[in-house]
Amino acid sequence: MKFFIDTANITQIKEAKDLGILDGVTTNPSLMAKEGIKGDDKIMEHYLKICAIVKGDVSAEVISTDYKSIIAEGKTLAALHPNIVVKVPMIKDGIKAIKYLSEQGIKTNCTLAFSAGQAILAAKAGATYISPFVGRVDDSNWDGIQLIAQIVQIYGIYGYPTQVLAASIRSSLHIVRCAEVGAHVVTCPLDAILGLLKHPLTDIGLEKFLSDFKKSQA
Ligand code: G3P
Repeated sequence: MKFFIDTANITQIKEAKDLGILDGVTTNPSLMAKEGIKGDDKIMEHYLKICAIVKGDVSAEVISTDYKSIIAEGKTLAALHPNIVVKVPMIKDGIKAIKYLSEQGIKTNCTLAFSAGQAILAAKAGATYISPFVGRVDDSNWDGIQLIAQIVQIYGIYGYPTQVLAASIRSSLHIVRCAEVGAHVVTCPLDAILGLLKHPLTDIGLEKFLSDFKKSQA
């Protein structure tokens, strides 16, 4: 399972990268706004900054919602850097644009997916990734992990190459559950990644090993 970080925060991206386990980055307009990145030039500059740090796919989201504009915006984003993946919303024009962009050899990430039906359409259109939003599905009293499992199963039956990129990850447990059901990628906040390190018995055990070592040296 690949690990992406779901942020536009450079410090956090660097911290995850330094851990040695980072495979890519996903951003969205909300995450860019959170970092105060405004205006086309600054936005493009920021994507390039991220691409210079991480050697892996970097999702950059379009803000257009009609076919022609999504394609124009997608081409501009894709031309920025070979690792840019054009993130396109799961809407009718989005699916049409994904079909077109994938035929042009441009990588795409179909975002805002909340059902298996939407995931089937994205795969048919040739999306590189489908992003089902685990946490937001949970928020609406449905089972986000069950949705990931369902999509992984369907893609497996038909051999669709589209990768299931579990998004809207809220906890370390989400990451483990995504691994259990075969998600190809998880995109996570830094805290959820670092949370995987934690176990009280590790801390207790390490303290004991170190104090026994000190005693043996006294
Ligand atoms: O990758 C999508 C993600 O950023 C949404 O997360 O926590 O806003 O549902 P969240």
